[in-house]
Amino acid sequence: MNSNNSQKIVIALTKGRILDEVLPLFEAAGIAPLEDINSSRKLIFDTTMPGVQIMVIRGSDVPTYVEFGSADLGVVGKDLLLEYGSEGFYEPLDLKLAKCRLMTAAPVGAAPVAGRIKVATKFANITKRYFAEQGVQVDVIKLNGALELAPSMGLADIIVDIVDSGNTLKANGLEPLQLIAQISSRVIVNKAALKMKHALIKPLLQCLAEAVEARAQV
Ligand code: PRP
Repeated sequence: MNSNNSQKIVIALTKGRILDEVLPLFEAAGIAPLEDINSSRKLIFDTTMPGVQIMVIRGSDVPTYVEFGSADLGVVGKDLLLEYGSEGFYEPLDLKLAKCRLMTAAPVGAAPVAGRIKVATKFANITKRYFAEQGVQVDVIKLNGALELAPSMGLADIIVDIVDSGNTLKANGLEPLQLIAQISSRVIVNKAALKMKHALIKPLLQCLAEAVEARAQV
Protein backbone atom coordinates (compact mmCIF):
# COMPACT_ATOMS: atom_id res chain seq x y z
CA MET A 1 0.00 0.00 0.00
CA ASN A 2 1.28 3.44 -0.78
CA SER A 3 -1.05 6.06 0.55
CA ASN A 4 1.75 8.64 0.19
CA ASN A 5 1.10 8.49 -3.55
CA SER A 6 -0.70 11.77 -4.10
CA GLN A 7 -3.03 10.18 -6.65
CA LYS A 8 -4.26 7.50 -4.25
CA ILE A 9 -6.64 7.55 -1.33
CA VAL A 10 -6.82 4.76 1.26
CA ILE A 11 -9.90 4.62 3.48
CA ALA A 12 -9.82 2.51 6.67
CA LEU A 13 -13.08 0.82 7.63
CA THR A 14 -14.08 -1.81 10.21
CA LYS A 15 -15.90 -5.10 9.62
CA GLY A 16 -19.27 -5.63 11.27
CA ARG A 17 -22.04 -3.15 11.92
CA ILE A 18 -20.06 -0.08 10.86
CA LEU A 19 -19.13 -1.67 7.52
CA ASP A 20 -22.70 -2.85 6.84
CA GLU A 21 -24.07 0.63 7.47
CA VAL A 22 -21.22 2.62 5.93
CA LEU A 23 -20.82 0.75 2.63
CA PRO A 24 -24.24 1.77 1.23
CA LEU A 25 -23.37 5.38 2.05
CA PHE A 26 -20.02 5.06 0.30
CA GLU A 27 -21.79 3.45 -2.65
CA ALA A 28 -24.14 6.43 -2.80
CA ALA A 29 -21.02 8.61 -2.87
CA GLY A 30 -19.66 6.57 -5.82
CA ILE A 31 -17.22 4.34 -3.90
CA ALA A 32 -18.04 0.61 -3.98
CA PRO A 33 -15.52 -2.19 -3.37
CA LEU A 34 -14.85 -4.28 -6.49
CA GLU A 35 -15.42 -7.49 -4.53
CA ASP A 36 -17.51 -8.57 -1.57
CA ILE A 37 -15.57 -7.53 1.54
CA ASN A 38 -17.50 -9.83 3.85
CA SER A 39 -16.77 -13.02 1.92
CA SER A 40 -13.11 -12.22 1.23
CA ARG A 41 -10.06 -12.84 3.38
CA LYS A 42 -8.32 -9.89 1.79
CA LEU A 43 -7.82 -6.77 3.87
CA ILE A 44 -7.51 -4.15 1.13
CA PHE A 45 -9.84 -3.63 -1.83
CA ASP A 46 -9.90 -1.57 -4.99
CA THR A 47 -13.12 0.36 -5.55
CA THR A 48 -15.23 1.70 -8.39
CA MET A 49 -13.58 5.09 -7.82
CA PRO A 50 -10.17 4.97 -9.52
CA GLY A 51 -7.29 5.42 -7.07
CA VAL A 52 -9.49 4.89 -4.02
CA GLN A 53 -8.90 1.78 -1.90
CA ILE A 54 -10.72 0.50 1.16
CA MET A 55 -8.82 -1.34 3.89
CA VAL A 56 -10.60 -3.31 6.59
CA ILE A 57 -9.07 -3.35 10.08
CA ARG A 58 -10.07 -3.39 13.74
CA GLY A 59 -11.92 -0.29 14.89
CA SER A 60 -9.35 0.53 17.54
CA ASP A 61 -6.60 0.46 14.87
CA VAL A 62 -8.37 2.94 12.55
CA PRO A 63 -7.19 6.07 14.44
CA THR A 64 -3.60 4.73 14.46
CA TYR A 65 -3.52 4.11 10.71
CA VAL A 66 -5.03 7.52 10.02
CA GLU A 67 -2.85 9.41 12.50
CA PHE A 68 0.32 7.99 10.94
CA GLY A 69 -0.94 8.51 7.39
CA SER A 70 -0.93 4.87 6.29
CA ALA A 71 -4.62 5.47 5.68
CA ASP A 72 -5.78 8.90 4.49
CA LEU A 73 -9.30 8.60 5.85
CA GLY A 74 -11.04 6.32 8.30
CA VAL A 75 -14.48 5.66 9.72
CA VAL A 76 -14.57 5.02 13.44
CA GLY A 77 -17.04 5.10 16.30
CA LYS A 78 -17.10 8.21 18.47
CA ASP A 79 -16.65 5.87 21.46
CA LEU A 80 -13.13 5.00 20.30
CA LEU A 81 -12.32 8.66 19.62
CA LEU A 82 -13.47 9.65 23.10
CA GLU A 83 -11.49 6.80 24.64
CA TYR A 84 -8.21 7.11 22.77
CA GLY A 85 -8.24 10.82 21.94
CA SER A 86 -8.56 12.52 18.57
CA GLU A 87 -5.73 15.04 18.49
CA GLY A 88 -3.78 13.30 15.73
CA PHE A 89 -6.27 13.84 12.91
CA TYR A 90 -9.27 15.88 11.77
CA GLU A 91 -12.83 14.73 12.42
CA PRO A 92 -14.75 16.53 9.66
CA LEU A 93 -17.94 14.50 9.32
CA ASP A 94 -20.53 12.72 11.45
CA LEU A 95 -21.96 9.95 9.28
CA LYS A 96 -24.87 9.59 11.73
CA LEU A 97 -24.60 5.82 11.34
CA ALA A 98 -24.14 2.95 13.80
CA LYS A 99 -25.82 5.17 16.37
CA CYS A 100 -25.84 3.95 19.96
CA ARG A 101 -25.32 5.25 23.48
CA LEU A 102 -22.52 4.85 25.97
CA MET A 103 -24.21 4.24 29.32
CA THR A 104 -23.76 3.05 32.83
CA ALA A 105 -25.77 -0.06 33.69
CA ALA A 106 -26.44 -1.97 36.88
CA PRO A 107 -28.34 -5.10 37.96
CA VAL A 108 -32.08 -4.44 37.71
CA GLY A 109 -33.36 -2.83 40.92
CA ALA A 110 -29.94 -2.80 42.62
CA ALA A 111 -29.64 -0.49 45.60
CA PRO A 112 -27.15 2.38 45.22
CA VAL A 113 -23.64 1.32 46.24
CA ALA A 114 -22.31 2.76 49.47
CA GLY A 115 -18.68 3.84 49.18
CA ARG A 116 -16.43 3.42 46.16
CA ILE A 117 -18.18 1.98 43.14
CA LYS A 118 -16.47 -0.78 41.14
CA VAL A 119 -17.03 -0.12 37.42
CA ALA A 120 -16.14 -2.68 34.74
CA THR A 121 -15.61 -1.31 31.24
CA LYS A 122 -13.66 -1.41 27.99
CA PHE A 123 -13.70 2.40 28.12
CA ALA A 124 -11.42 3.12 31.08
CA ASN A 125 -10.48 6.68 30.11
CA ILE A 126 -14.04 7.81 29.38
CA THR A 127 -15.26 6.17 32.58
CA LYS A 128 -12.60 7.80 34.78
CA ARG A 129 -13.31 11.19 33.19
CA TYR A 130 -17.08 10.83 33.54
CA PHE A 131 -17.07 9.91 37.21
CA ALA A 132 -14.40 12.50 38.04
CA GLU A 133 -16.69 15.14 36.49
CA GLN A 134 -19.54 13.82 38.65
CA GLY A 135 -17.31 13.95 41.74
CA VAL A 136 -17.96 10.24 42.31
CA GLN A 137 -15.19 7.95 43.52
CA VAL A 138 -14.84 4.76 41.49
CA ASP A 139 -12.44 1.90 40.91
CA VAL A 140 -12.30 1.21 37.18
CA ILE A 141 -11.77 -2.41 36.15
CA LYS A 142 -10.64 -2.72 32.53
CA LEU A 143 -12.14 -5.65 30.60
CA ASN A 144 -12.05 -6.46 26.90
CA GLY A 145 -15.53 -7.89 26.39
CA ALA A 146 -18.56 -9.62 27.94
CA LEU A 147 -18.82 -6.77 30.44
CA GLU A 148 -22.38 -7.75 31.23
CA LEU A 149 -21.11 -10.69 33.27
CA ALA A 150 -19.04 -8.58 35.64
CA PRO A 151 -21.80 -7.58 38.12
CA SER A 152 -23.32 -11.05 38.46
CA MET A 153 -19.88 -12.59 38.91
CA GLY A 154 -19.08 -10.13 41.69
CA LEU A 155 -16.29 -8.39 39.80
CA ALA A 156 -18.00 -4.99 39.58
CA ASP A 157 -21.06 -3.11 40.86
CA ILE A 158 -21.88 -1.49 37.54
CA ILE A 159 -20.61 -1.42 33.96
CA VAL A 160 -20.06 1.26 31.34
CA ASP A 161 -20.84 -0.08 27.88
CA ILE A 162 -22.37 0.55 24.49
CA VAL A 163 -26.16 0.19 24.43
CA ASP A 164 -28.05 -0.12 21.17
CA SER A 165 -31.32 -2.07 21.46
CA GLY A 166 -30.73 -2.75 25.16
CA ASN A 167 -31.26 -6.48 24.56
CA THR A 168 -27.80 -7.52 25.79
CA LEU A 169 -28.29 -5.70 29.09
CA LYS A 170 -31.77 -7.15 29.51
CA ALA A 171 -30.63 -10.70 28.75
CA ASN A 172 -28.08 -10.37 31.52
CA GLY A 173 -30.34 -8.89 34.19
CA LEU A 174 -29.02 -5.34 33.83
CA GLU A 175 -30.71 -2.00 33.20
CA PRO A 176 -29.30 1.18 31.66
CA LEU A 177 -28.91 4.10 34.05
CA GLN A 178 -26.93 7.23 33.09
CA LEU A 179 -26.21 8.39 29.55
CA ILE A 180 -22.54 9.23 29.14
CA ALA A 181 -22.40 9.99 25.40
CA GLN A 182 -24.35 9.62 22.17
CA ILE A 183 -22.20 7.61 19.75
CA SER A 184 -22.12 7.49 15.95
CA SER A 185 -19.60 6.79 13.19
CA ARG A 186 -17.24 9.64 12.31
CA VAL A 187 -14.98 10.23 9.33
CA ILE A 188 -11.43 11.05 10.38
CA VAL A 189 -8.75 12.41 8.06
CA ASN A 190 -4.97 12.50 8.26
CA LYS A 191 -3.87 16.12 8.70
CA ALA A 192 -1.06 16.04 6.13
CA ALA A 193 -3.17 14.12 3.60
CA LEU A 194 -5.92 16.73 3.78
CA LYS A 195 -3.37 19.33 2.66
CA MET A 196 -1.41 17.24 0.15
CA LYS A 197 -4.38 15.43 -1.41
CA HIS A 198 -6.89 18.23 -0.98
CA ALA A 199 -8.08 17.95 -4.58
CA LEU A 200 -9.04 14.29 -4.02
CA ILE A 201 -10.20 14.35 -0.42
CA LYS A 202 -12.30 17.53 -0.48
CA PRO A 203 -14.77 16.27 -3.17
CA LEU A 204 -14.86 12.87 -1.53
CA LEU A 205 -15.88 14.43 1.81
CA GLN A 206 -18.38 16.57 -0.07
CA CYS A 207 -19.93 13.46 -1.71
CA LEU A 208 -20.13 11.72 1.65
CA ALA A 209 -21.68 14.79 3.31
CA GLU A 210 -24.29 14.92 0.53
CA ALA A 211 -25.00 11.21 0.94
CA VAL A 212 -25.50 11.74 4.71
CA GLU A 213 -27.81 14.65 3.95
CA ALA A 214 -29.79 12.68 1.35
CA ARG A 215 -30.16 9.81 3.78
CA ALA A 216 -31.54 12.17 6.46
CA GLN A 217 -34.26 13.33 4.00
CA VAL A 218 -35.62 9.78 3.46
C1 PRP B 1 -21.88 -3.97 21.96
C2 PRP B 1 -21.91 -3.84 23.46
C3 PRP B 1 -23.00 -4.78 23.88
C4 PRP B 1 -23.92 -4.77 22.67
C5 PRP B 1 -25.12 -3.90 22.94
O1 PRP B 1 -21.07 -5.03 21.62
O2 PRP B 1 -20.66 -4.15 24.06
O3 PRP B 1 -22.50 -6.05 24.14
O4 PRP B 1 -23.23 -4.21 21.56
O5 PRP B 1 -26.07 -3.98 21.91
P1 PRP B 1 -27.63 -4.12 22.25
O6 PRP B 1 -27.97 -3.01 23.20
O7 PRP B 1 -28.32 -3.97 20.92
O8 PRP B 1 -27.86 -5.47 22.85
P2 PRP B 1 -20.67 -5.25 20.10
O9 PRP B 1 -21.70 -6.06 19.41
O10 PRP B 1 -20.32 -3.94 19.49
O11 PRP B 1 -19.39 -6.17 20.21
P3 PRP B 1 -18.15 -6.05 21.18
O12 PRP B 1 -18.49 -6.83 22.39
O13 PRP B 1 -17.04 -6.63 20.38
O14 PRP B 1 -17.94 -4.60 21.48
